Amino acid sequence: MKKSNKRLHKQPFIRFWGAFHFLIFSFRNTKIEVICPYLRQMIYPLIRELLFCFPPEEVHYFSMNLLKNACSIPPLRSIIKKKFEFPGTALQKTVFGLPFSNPVGLGAGFDKNALYLHELETLGFGFVEIGTVTPKSQPGNNKPRLFRLPADKALINRMGFNNDGVTVIRERLNNWNNSKFKIQNSKLIVGGNIGKNKLTPNEEAWKDYRICFDELFECVDYFVVNVSSPNTPGLRELQEKESLKKILSELQQQNQARSTPKPLLLKIAPDLTQEQLDDIVDLSFEVKLSGLVATNTTINREQLQTPNAKCQAIGAGGLSGRPVRERSTEVVSYLSQQTGGKIPVIASGGIFTGADAEEKMKAGASLIQVWTGFIYEGPSIVKNICNHLAKA
Ligand SMILES: Cc1cc2nc3c(=O)[nH]c(=O)nc-3n(C[C@H](O)[C@H](O)[C@H](O)COP(=O)(O)O)c2cc1C
Repeated sequence: MKKSNKRLHKQPFIRFWGAFHFLIFSFRNTKIEVICPYLRQMIYPLIRELLFCFPPEEVHYFSMNLLKNACSIPPLRSIIKKKFEFPGTALQKTVFGLPFSNPVGLGAGFDKNALYLHELETLGFGFVEIGTVTPKSQPGNNKPRLFRLPADKALINRMGFNNDGVTVIRERLNNWNNSKFKIQNSKLIVGGNIGKNKLTPNEEAWKDYRICFDELFECVDYFVVNVSSPNTPGLRELQEKESLKKILSELQQQNQARSTPKPLLLKIAPDLTQEQLDDIVDLSFEVKLSGLVATNTTINREQLQTPNAKCQAIGAGGLSGRPVRERSTEVVSYLSQQTGGKIPVIASGGIFTGADAEEKMKAGASLIQVWTGFIYEGPSIVKNICNHLAKA
């Protein structure tokens, strides 16, 4: 009997229901104005419990489509915007020549296909990095390929660059740029994170990056070269100096030939050695990169609370969220020191709260991106972080 009860409590839906009743019971004699602040803090954890009852990838699209529907009704969109957007201009800043309304962005891989820019702007993001985009559309790895590790406030993914391909995504971005929302009042900065198709051999990878760069040039504000995803076989080998030099110099040559070149950034893994980081720093100066994004997900599985057996059962993939926070800050700090702060860094990895964001800024970051934190903290994450940074 005890055993079956225990199993029952492990069911996420039962947990959600239990928490809901606990909340009602706890506040049954309390006035509404006293309850409100508590309720606000409790609501997303409850919603999260409910959402976590379903498979992560499906829930991702379900939630974003729900938001899309809500935002398509103008009065509802205004309410959402008012609730989640950080007001005022206190956090505006210009980085690599671009005007950011606030320094909190959404990391690549969340809106791979540029489907939700309007909605993400409504939630207050200062910038969104779309992609990773590859020349041809590709389905990515077999499902399931996204897993939650709630005990660690983490995710493991092996999506494998599933995306609609550069041509379709370019059309979508053109529509966004021409849409009435964009023309009237959008301040959202859009980054294009580019990669190579799974079947393209590494020696030819530079051509894939070049195709994506050329096709997206007119419709994004900055570019990120992604060579650090662990889910495309051999991709991370492109972080070696010579391979990277070929890709980056090719892109920079094209870029500088344009009348108004775009900021070109490189995204790196947290698992690089100090020597590799030194190579990246040298190369960044050599090819005149505008910035670095540090870091992507890790293949490291040390010091997790999640039982080893569960991690083994999940298998390969990139780990994100809390467990990557410390290493990511170390890398940001090292890069900032070694570049003397001359190359702006976008920090990504384990940012959940204002304090996490402040830690990254103190380590030398100019901007920050959230991803896993957005899943665990919910849509208030941008405003919470901005409120903290504005007071810091
Ligand atoms: C499901 C998922 C898919 C991702 N896809 C990409 C991607 O396509 N390209 C990329 O550069 N980073 C990708 N990332 C990495 C994130 O952009 C981010 O750098 C990383 O998750 C660390 O940040 P976090 O701890 O805040 O999640 C992905 C992350 C997750 C969780």
